Amino acid sequence: MSEFKPLVFSGVQPTGNLHLGNYLGAIRKFVALQEKNDCMYCVVDLHALTAQLVHEDMIGQIRSITAAFLAAGIDPKQHIVFNQSQVPQHAELAWIFNCVARIGWMNRMTQFKDKAGKDREQASLGLYAYPSLMAADILVYRATHVPVGEDQKQHLELTRDIAMKFNMDFMEKIRPTGLGIDITVGDEPVHAYFPMVEPLIDGPAPRVMSLKDGSKKMSKSDPSDLSRINLMDDSDAISKKIRKAKTDPDALPSEVDGLKGRPEADNLVGIFAALADKTKADVLAEFGGQQFSVFKPALVDLAVEVLAPINAEMRRLMDDPGHIDAVLRDGGERARARAEKTMTEVRDIIGFVR
Ligand code: TRP
Repeated sequence: MSEFKPLVFSGVQPTGNLHLGNYLGAIRKFVALQEKNDCMYCVVDLHALTAQLVHEDMIGQIRSITAAFLAAGIDPKQHIVFNQSQVPQHAELAWIFNCVARIGWMNRMTQFKDKAGKDREQASLGLYAYPSLMAADILVYRATHVPVGEDQKQHLELTRDIAMKFNMDFMEKIRPTGLGIDITVGDEPVHAYFPMVEPLIDGPAPRVMSLKDGSKKMSKSDPSDLSRINLMDDSDAISKKIRKAKTDPDALPSEVDGLKGRPEADNLVGIFAALADKTKADVLAEFGGQQFSVFKPALVDLAVEVLAPINAEMRRLMDDPGHIDAVLRDGGERARARAEKTMTEVRDIIGFVR
């Protein structure tokens, strides 16, 4: 029995500024994965239209995510960095997946319910179909591994459901093409054209919370800029935000258990641990018993040490948009070649005349 060739794929929407949570939760993982895998990282600009159609600075947002990828250390020559709209095959496969996915499946998507809010009649059809396009992003390359946050798990389950239904419905058409692979799903043998994607959710990534409220996720939509560290913040801004971060009056505990019921302390220790590539226990072994007046300056030094070079490189790249666009064009071209191969096969499997 053969297997699908491992391929890592992930996407980031070009909306809002990237912050520390995006860096520790996503981009840093993308960087680590490129050591041992073939990787594709996509700025999903088509997805950005689903919640809001008109964007003031769409080009700038796409370039800034790309700059963050590059500044963090993703290698666009060894791997592929591109924006979704340069590969129309994503939208083509998404249409086919719209006809594979059932309305009942889409109705279960919690992100749609959250984003559509109370007035669901006014949500765009694109917001509803969002997960189908996401499945197409991944499967148009027959990618096998997808690093995402916990909140995207349901969309990846849907991606598997879509792949499974396509494989099953077209099984007798896939077989004679020789393009399928025998896999087992659960205990069931399947002759599959599309792989069953695996989420890569675990790892050291902490849930990075707001600096002003340890019970809320750090978010680009929080009205207070002091609640988050943006990747475009310079050393002074980073330092100011950490110094002003909410804390409680007690010293740090020596054990992780002692962080229970202290969300702000837990968050800052978690951020320190993630930035230092250590566990919270390691951090508390060093700082247990110390006041925040000692811990915060140490956190400032560490955050500046890790983030300032990324920040400087992002700024340098943003000053040369021509270079960023050239990277995206080159990535787009290589992605298109791969995607077109899949779509040619999919059109043949379905039975479109060509
Ligand atoms: N929905 C993802 C998010 O909001 C972004 C995304 C779009 C994505 N297409 C993808 C992530 C494909 C992984 C794979 O985070």
